[in-house]
Amino acid sequence: MTDPLAKPRLLVARRLFDDLLEPLHTHYTLIQHDADEALSPAALREQLQGCWGLLGSGSEQVDAELLAACPDLRAVALITVGYNNLALEACRARGLRLSHAPGVLTEATAEFGLALLLATARRVGESERYLRSGRWQGWAIDQFAGAPVMGRTLGVLGLGRIGQRIAQAARDGLGMKVLHHNRRPVEGWGSGADSGWRSLPDLLAQSDHLMVCVPYGAGTHHLIGAPELAQMPAHACLINLARGGVVDDRALAAALQRGQIAAAGLDVFEGEPAVCPELLACENAVLTPHIASATLPTRRAMVQLAVDNLLAWARGEPGPTPIPI
Ligand code: DGY
Repeated sequence: MTDPLAKPRLLVARRLFDDLLEPLHTHYTLIQHDADEALSPAALREQLQGCWGLLGSGSEQVDAELLAACPDLRAVALITVGYNNLALEACRARGLRLSHAPGVLTEATAEFGLALLLATARRVGESERYLRSGRWQGWAIDQFAGAPVMGRTLGVLGLGRIGQRIAQAARDGLGMKVLHHNRRPVEGWGSGADSGWRSLPDLLAQSDHLMVCVPYGAGTHHLIGAPELAQMPAHACLINLARGGVVDDRALAAALQRGQIAAAGLDVFEGEPAVCPELLACENAVLTPHIASATLPTRRAMVQLAVDNLLAWARGEPGPTPIPI
């Protein structure tokens, strides 16, 4: 028989910040997977037995199969803003409480997007590898000549919080003309051609550089594939800050190898941490390990927000950042 006075069990699926987790001990019995490797689906299922809640890092797949195997699971608090790891229909059917971490990582992620754009267009990774390998024999007139960014046109695909912050900074800080494509009009950015809204084909054709910020889901799987890459100018750089599955990595590698577009900067990969080998072979790709939100203050704020949701749930309150389902 279960003890009605026992605290609900909460699985913390990764090593996080112990000091931020401290207040949770008052309300929950914490089961901590104190490691940096994500739990395999089988291990997650096993660790979740008897757990009421999951404090997740975005890589745990919570789907109908997992829910069927974990009948006690009632709540998932994510430290990420993206929640494509949750099968929302199945979560809704179970009546799960769900939260994510919007807002707190907008600045860090937007600044990384711009860093990746500049590094990609100006060939920072490639030239640094060249210098470190001892091949540099001296200055040459067209050595590592890159693509200009300032004053050029940036296409932002997905004008959510992060996309808007990038658009603002690119416009105000880098003097860029900003075009965008978004399903719904966004206040302050509008949806008419004058506002910079473009159909996807026009955005691809008219942007010197493309920033992919759209959330991942069935409707955005391989939204950028071979036909879309073929519509971009040859001097364009593509940056993906969203999720790997939004861009077809194999098609992208082929486009980079053929010189169909100039370069790509990717922080996210389909099936990460595995990276498509063809991409690894592309000198004109800047590849980073999903670190766009990685400043310590931001990562702490992401964990804090998940903790705040869990503490609110323990008090019977809705929590500050529920996932809208
Ligand atoms: C998110 O929050 O979705 C980010 O990808 C994590 O860094």
